[in-house]
Amino acid sequence: MAFRKDFLWGGATAANQCEGGYNEGGRGLANVDVIPYGKDRFPVMAGEMKMLDFDDEHFYPAKEAIDMYHRYKEDIKLFGEMGFKTYRLSIGWSRIFPKGDEEIPNEEGLKFYEDLFKECHKYGIEPLVTITHFDCPIHLTKEYGSWKNRKLITFYERLCRTLFTRYKGLVRYWLTFNEINVLLHMPFMGAGVLFEEGENKEAVKYQAAHHELVASALATKIAHEIDPENKVGCMLAAGNTYPYSCKPEDVFKSIEKDRENYFFIDVQSRGEYPPYALKMMERKGITPKMEEGDLKLLKENTVDFISFSYYSSRVTSSDEKVNSSAEGNLFGSIKNPYLKASEWGWQIDPLGLRITLNTMYDRYQKPLFIVENGLGAVDIPDENGYVEDDYRIDYMREHIKAMKDAVDIDGVDLMGYTSWGCIDLVSASTGEMKKRYGFIYVDRDNEGNGTLRRSKKKSFYWYKKVIASNGEDLE
Ligand code: BG6
Repeated sequence: MAFRKDFLWGGATAANQCEGGYNEGGRGLANVDVIPYGKDRFPVMAGEMKMLDFDDEHFYPAKEAIDMYHRYKEDIKLFGEMGFKTYRLSIGWSRIFPKGDEEIPNEEGLKFYEDLFKECHKYGIEPLVTITHFDCPIHLTKEYGSWKNRKLITFYERLCRTLFTRYKGLVRYWLTFNEINVLLHMPFMGAGVLFEEGENKEAVKYQAAHHELVASALATKIAHEIDPENKVGCMLAAGNTYPYSCKPEDVFKSIEKDRENYFFIDVQSRGEYPPYALKMMERKGITPKMEEGDLKLLKENTVDFISFSYYSSRVTSSDEKVNSSAEGNLFGSIKNPYLKASEWGWQIDPLGLRITLNTMYDRYQKPLFIVENGLGAVDIPDENGYVEDDYRIDYMREHIKAMKDAVDIDGVDLMGYTSWGCIDLVSASTGEMKKRYGFIYVDRDNEGNGTLRRSKKKSFYWYKKVIASNGEDLE
């Protein structure tokens, strides 16, 4: 058998893409709430257009999302039926600390997640908790400039301490920041960061990154102190960058591109700023301000495991003219002529997953965890809500085969696999409902119409078999 006996099969979601209930249970407003659907979504996510509250002209899909806030029992029951061993979800920071800088947490928010975790355990499902999946209370952006400001470390620390204490025994697996590298590409969505006129954007981003990295190390330290059983991971938007050709300049460019992403994990896993990053920052004059003790903290509190999302590989070229770009997970790449693409232009590359797994394992030698993977596609349900989603099954089968090879043939230590959007939810990049990943169909459209009824797709039954056979039966 390729996979460990205790392999963690499951699915993943994020609070802002599924919960809704944005103003219920004492919850405060967050950056992720005010990112609208439509043409303004991208500039808002990138921090180029300021939107710090709702207006009447836009539709904000996170407000209600798929209403998991009220329906989580029904949803977790379905995950249980599929045989999930784990369910990856994220905490809405502003449910616990509505403004972010309070001393005392919001009991209603804490109770909500406590009940949810207990519901998971009812079905033998181990929660895997992302402490922040892109979200940050909007008050922290308005008042402090979000992660630009070192004070955020203290507020995040308070959040973590509260969570680790309250959920001791209920949660053992934690991820500090979802896709931490997204901060460089979508600073408002990834970290609530906006820019002032004349600010050096790169300097701001790397300063915010330093704060997040310190916060992540601190969280790891506290998690271990509160409960030595806790396992803490980092999380990267992964997918190796291929050179467009074998021209050495292209190859070198691909190394540089990958380093932009691996920079974060190099720090979180090895505990040191890598020399290439220090040199780059020095050259550009953007070395972040650090305080005494930061480097020691980073060194002494590296992560227990490395998690990542994988949807596609990327391609880069040293030649500016080669720019027939393809879409990708929040940051695009050159089109790879050898690959097919999804309806949203994301290129499909199962072997790329094996390549990525190998690169990461060679680089870090720590257990790996694939916490996002899947196919965003248009589903057409019949009158009972049933979807014949063979395209999704094909995508997943090929990716699971590739990860099996990475384990079986290459010897990669893999802890688990949680497919993205196990229940249909709001797309992070486009805000659409139409871009579906789930095994469970949710009756809702891009404009927020629909009954929110849940129904099983063909892939529901397929994934159940995959889990029951520990990845042996993929037909
Ligand atoms: C990752 C995010 O970027 O990819 C998720 O962690 C996101 O939040 C997922 O939903 C898929 O992207 P999209 O844009 O298709 O929703």
